[in-house]
Amino acid sequence: MCYYARISVFPAYPRTCFFAVSARVPRYTPSIIDRGDDGGEEREELSALSIIGTGRYLPGRPIPNENLARVMDTSDEWIRKRTGIHQRHFAEDGQGVGELGARAAERAIEDAGIDPTEIDFILFATMTPDHLFPGSGPLVAERLGISGVPALDIRQQCASFPFALEVANGLIASGAARTILFVAADTHASLMPFRDWDVVRGNVSRTIPREDFERATAHRGIAVIFGDGASAVIFRATDREGAGLLRSELRSDGGRADHIFIPMGFSRLPFNDPELAASDAHLPQMKGGNLLKAAVRELSELARAVMEQEGIGPEEVDLFIAHQANQRINDAVAAALKLSPERIPSNIARYGNTSSATIGILLDELRHEGRIQEGDLLCFLALGAGLHAGASLFRY
Ligand code: UT7
Repeated sequence: MCYYARISVFPAYPRTCFFAVSARVPRYTPSIIDRGDDGGEEREELSALSIIGTGRYLPGRPIPNENLARVMDTSDEWIRKRTGIHQRHFAEDGQGVGELGARAAERAIEDAGIDPTEIDFILFATMTPDHLFPGSGPLVAERLGISGVPALDIRQQCASFPFALEVANGLIASGAARTILFVAADTHASLMPFRDWDVVRGNVSRTIPREDFERATAHRGIAVIFGDGASAVIFRATDREGAGLLRSELRSDGGRADHIFIPMGFSRLPFNDPELAASDAHLPQMKGGNLLKAAVRELSELARAVMEQEGIGPEEVDLFIAHQANQRINDAVAAALKLSPERIPSNIARYGNTSSATIGILLDELRHEGRIQEGDLLCFLALGAGLHAGASLFRY
């Protein structure tokens, strides 16, 4: 027999969830943490999320806008004015997200002052995995010397951070994990419409064939905004009063999957069809204007929703840490919420849009600049391919 029971599985998270449970199934026992016979009591005490370490890794030398203007019809002035981006990094040939992610993770582990063996769950976010399958979470574990630790790959692209917070919070609240490594990494280099990487990287200066220039120009929307990078966060269970994830609002809308996507996949538009590959169906297609408007509207709405649920206004949030897709988006969100620029920090000028990794990279920089203190209230905001979007209120 099956019935719906109202059980609060998130004691530090003021929301009640509905789960289908069987009357005959015994009380859930976490598989990873042995909490002894009185598991329930202990779970109550160590049920909130805290951030104990962060790290970032950017591959190679920065590539300035001028280099892109050598391979397609664009300019440094246009890119700065319309996106806020001055430069970005791209992974070297053969460098995958497993490697980038592991480097960021090593720094986060060192920052947290823990041994890698203390990690009992890995969350990995990317839209550019090392292989079509499996995901890259296990590859990171292997590089860290902790193979065997369960690794869950999530696919929320630029909106990964608020989704990862929700999953990490659930794992910790249920007692299934105590120390979680969240890694986010993306390598867009392989999705770029460039043929002569030596010119892009500034190794040589030569005129590229007209056909290559036109091909890159046809994809300049994606080519100017994306860059490669990785970030890592170590979450740990805490009993600190008031700490952790307070509210989150998450949305996923497949009706707008075509706003930014790679058409090729498996049985519908097979990745191994040479004609499709020749038509560049393996490159991302993006409705940039639609995304820009959606991000401004929905990020403001989501931020307002979590603040309203918590009964606070923007003045009570210390920092709004938002995805870095285009500076114009975050400027418009700041205007909508009446925030001064320092309350919604930015690093897009230096890195471009690193998709899943942006929020973690920014969080790492802010922590190490001393701009985040214990007890600060943070609002994370992100929207990306899916479309997925989310806002999270987090007490640091
Ligand atoms: O990470 C999550 C998912 N992605 C996003 O959130 C991206 C959001 N969208 C954007 O960042 C912007 O839409 C882009 C940066 C991609 C494009 O900027 P835009 O302001 O939406 O440009 P547009 O496509 O409306 O084009 C405006 C003008 C056009 O010229 P005309 O018709 O006004 O003469 C374009 O041809 O700018 C031209 N243009 C460019 N010029 C130089 C468009 N892209 C470029 C370019 N360089 N890269």
